[in-house]
Amino acid sequence: KQTGHTSLDYGFVNTAATRSAVTYIDGDKGILRYRGYPIEQIAQHSTYLEVAWLLLYGDLPSASELADFDDRIRRHTLLHEDLKHFFSSLPHTAHPMSVLSAATAALSTYYEDQSDPNNPEHVELNTVRLLAKLPVIAAYAHKKSIGQAFLYPDNSLSFVDNFLKLNFGVLAEEYRVNPVVSRALERLLILHEDHEQNASTSTVRLVGSTGANQFSSISAGINALYGPLHGGANEAVLDMLGRIRDSGESVERFVERVKNKEDGVKLMGFGHRVYKNYDPRAKLVKESADEVLTELGVVDPLLDLAKELEEIALSDDYFKERRLYPNVDFYTGVIYKAMGFPTRMFTPLFAIGRLPGWLAHWREMQNDPQTKIGRPQQLYVGSAARDYPQA
Ligand code: CMC
Repeated sequence: KQTGHTSLDYGFVNTAATRSAVTYIDGDKGILRYRGYPIEQIAQHSTYLEVAWLLLYGDLPSASELADFDDRIRRHTLLHEDLKHFFSSLPHTAHPMSVLSAATAALSTYYEDQSDPNNPEHVELNTVRLLAKLPVIAAYAHKKSIGQAFLYPDNSLSFVDNFLKLNFGVLAEEYRVNPVVSRALERLLILHEDHEQNASTSTVRLVGSTGANQFSSISAGINALYGPLHGGANEAVLDMLGRIRDSGESVERFVERVKNKEDGVKLMGFGHRVYKNYDPRAKLVKESADEVLTELGVVDPLLDLAKELEEIALSDDYFKERRLYPNVDFYTGVIYKAMGFPTRMFTPLFAIGRLPGWLAHWREMQNDPQTKIGRPQQLYVGSAARDYPQA
């Protein structure tokens, strides 16, 4: 109900825009639960598609439900051949996130007669289509950027293995998935699957609240995720580490510049709107970073640099007073790099991870009888009424 009172809340720090049953976060205690299940247990035992089902439908799937879901997704991985030509109209220097959002919006043009947000069959079909096709689009954006041919999806492979092959396979038959990489990537995707009303999810809900279909809403979410304060932080962290290494600047001096807010420089991968003690995802990612690099036999000085930076920041009053801790993005980039992904693919990986959450929130918004078109108020601070000058 409208109260007639407008309160100003920059960045929606204190304003809830919806009720939601998808994800629970207690930022002070570092708790994250998907549909009630602790993230630590989910990350250990589950798979990407199982978690996607959980987020979408509220409970873990039975074995047959999961098999059917997996099968439906495998059957929708192909992109229309015409959509593949879309990639050639973009420069090879295009950032994969721009390609991903544009191609996701373009997907909608192939299903215009099957995209009614009020038709449950359409919603179900497009949920599966998006889950199946987004990884393929992301992999093609990668292939395009390195000038290699697109491979067809190999539907004999699992969701994650198929994605790895589409990215790293050169000839259809030759690529062998490394199980260490596969499980580590699956775990990282799971850790990103939902995070309640973050900027991109709120964008998906806001766009969806206008009656826009899932393709348009998800494309908008991808654009929101692209920013360096949100999903783009994983790319920004690695760029930051690389710059520190290449400049020869000491970590202490870099931290000083951050504290003095010189040129607006921030410690990327640190801080969170909600987590004020630690980000439980960051803890799990840090464990993975050591495991994966060790198992792959990769020695990356950037991992040591990241650890040094973390140690110095955590013992510094500036960060303590502001309760700034490593977030999920701080160590992911080092792992993605060890897996062979170029830096610009890091945020598309976040997008693939977050897709089930976006879809679950879009559906929750759509099914909530209380949903209204999102339309924030403003406090007007412009000119008083004045007359247009007459000649
Ligand atoms: N480095 C240095 N100072 C920081 C940082 C940082 N990473 N983050 C916050 N601060 C300072 C900020 O300048 C402010 O200081 P002061 O009180 O002197 O003005 C204080 O801490 C409070 O910060 P805020 O900007 O009011 O906090 P917020 O809740 O609006 O922003 C944030 C949260 C994540 C955007 C911010 O911490 C940030 O920019 N972090 C770096 C980018 C990043 O890693 N983003 C990924 C977020 S997690 C993944 C995701 O869900 O997208």
